[in-house]
Amino acid sequence: MSQLLVRGGRSLTGEVAVQGAKNSVLPILAATLLTGGQVELRGCPRLRDVDASIRILKALGCGAHWEGDSLLADTAGLNSCTVSDILMREMRSSAIFLGAVLARCGEAKMSYPGGCELGPRPIDLHLAGLRDLGAEIQDSGGVLRCKASCLRGRELILSLPSVGATENLMLAACGAEGVTTISNAAREPEIVDLQEFLNACGAGVSGAGTSTVTIEGRRPLHGCAYQIMPDRIVAATYLCAAASAGGEIYLRNAREGQLATVAAALREAGCAIRTDQKGMRCICRERLRSVRPVRTAPYPGFPTDAQAVLMAALLRSRGATVFEETIFENRYRHVDELVRMGADIRVMGRVAVVTGAEVLHGAPVRCTDLRGGAALCVAALAAEGETSIAEIGHIDRGYECIERDLKTLGAEIARTEMEI
Ligand code: EPZ
Repeated sequence: MSQLLVRGGRSLTGEVAVQGAKNSVLPILAATLLTGGQVELRGCPRLRDVDASIRILKALGCGAHWEGDSLLADTAGLNSCTVSDILMREMRSSAIFLGAVLARCGEAKMSYPGGCELGPRPIDLHLAGLRDLGAEIQDSGGVLRCKASCLRGRELILSLPSVGATENLMLAACGAEGVTTISNAAREPEIVDLQEFLNACGAGVSGAGTSTVTIEGRRPLHGCAYQIMPDRIVAATYLCAAASAGGEIYLRNAREGQLATVAAALREAGCAIRTDQKGMRCICRERLRSVRPVRTAPYPGFPTDAQAVLMAALLRSRGATVFEETIFENRYRHVDELVRMGADIRVMGRVAVVTGAEVLHGAPVRCTDLRGGAALCVAALAAEGETSIAEIGHIDRGYECIERDLKTLGAEIARTEMEI
């Protein structure tokens, strides 16, 4: 069993390139099914969740292989519309394949992707939208049997701006007769990336990034070569690492416009953040200050995926910061682990109050989920002594090699095998 060993107390310095975005490449991998051709995804991150998506594509009869940092997918050979329970359970976002398989095959059989560490992850909005487009969906015993002899475009209205539902319905609508509009759509940058990918394949999608996305269905789609956008949450993580440890770092490819609320909080805490055409620089020389309440919200609000890492960066700040997690029910599981390092955090339902501690100390901790695990790394950089971080498979779902990047920035961090 691997673990990360981190020796805190060193400031960060250096430059690192930000990897491709997990939450962009996962829906785009599902979208490759719509092309029936060859797709080259440049800057594709090597992640456990990408591996899980490749296994799903291969189970459907498609091909996928790496060439350098490009992932080449060929979906001409699609010969199944069923995804097994085991594959669906490997990754929460496997539900994203439903719309694409339905659009390509006219039917799909998948099990519920199941919940995850963050709490229940319902897909009722996905299913309601697919039914509105004309799909017949039987849901029995945790298995979804879907048929759509002919999907028809229409206006869809989401009761909340769900990222996954927006993406799933964009893909299904590509296979529907006529035009579909999705109102109250999620506005995340990853949805814009999905639109740009689909249009590079010949689709007619517009409005992504706003609350209304329009899709012209049934356009003949072809393969393409596409550059995946940089991962804004990985960039936010490394900015928070510099804030936590102090120092000066430069993140190549980071785009401040995609993480403006995170940059604003770090500036308020006392970091100097400068942006140029190629990336972002973050300079933190003083002890951080607490910041105004941080309330997570759909984009362009403060991203729920950056809540844990910002919390970790503020553990030694002067004063107290209030967090309110409005997106997921159970996204404070990292708090108990941070408290083992001397953090002063009080959780009351969706609210967590972080009071700055004078000192954090290294401790044996374990990852509870993907971003909670990254937060442990951020906190360990500021702790006195050594921190051992177990169950780092969670981190590997979203970070190509977190220890490689943090080491490049001057951190004392290594991946080792745990003595059982
Ligand atoms: C995406 O998850 C991201 N994952 C998550 O990132 C991210 O935290 C989340 O969006 C919010 O930004 C990927 O893109 C692969 P939602 P998703 O549908 O699509 C409720 C990470 O760390 N909801 O916007 O599942 C849901 O329970 C991961 O990289 C319904 O009730 O998020 C949640 O409370 C974690 N019914 C809220 O909406 C539905 O049908 C937002 O979920 C769908 C969602």
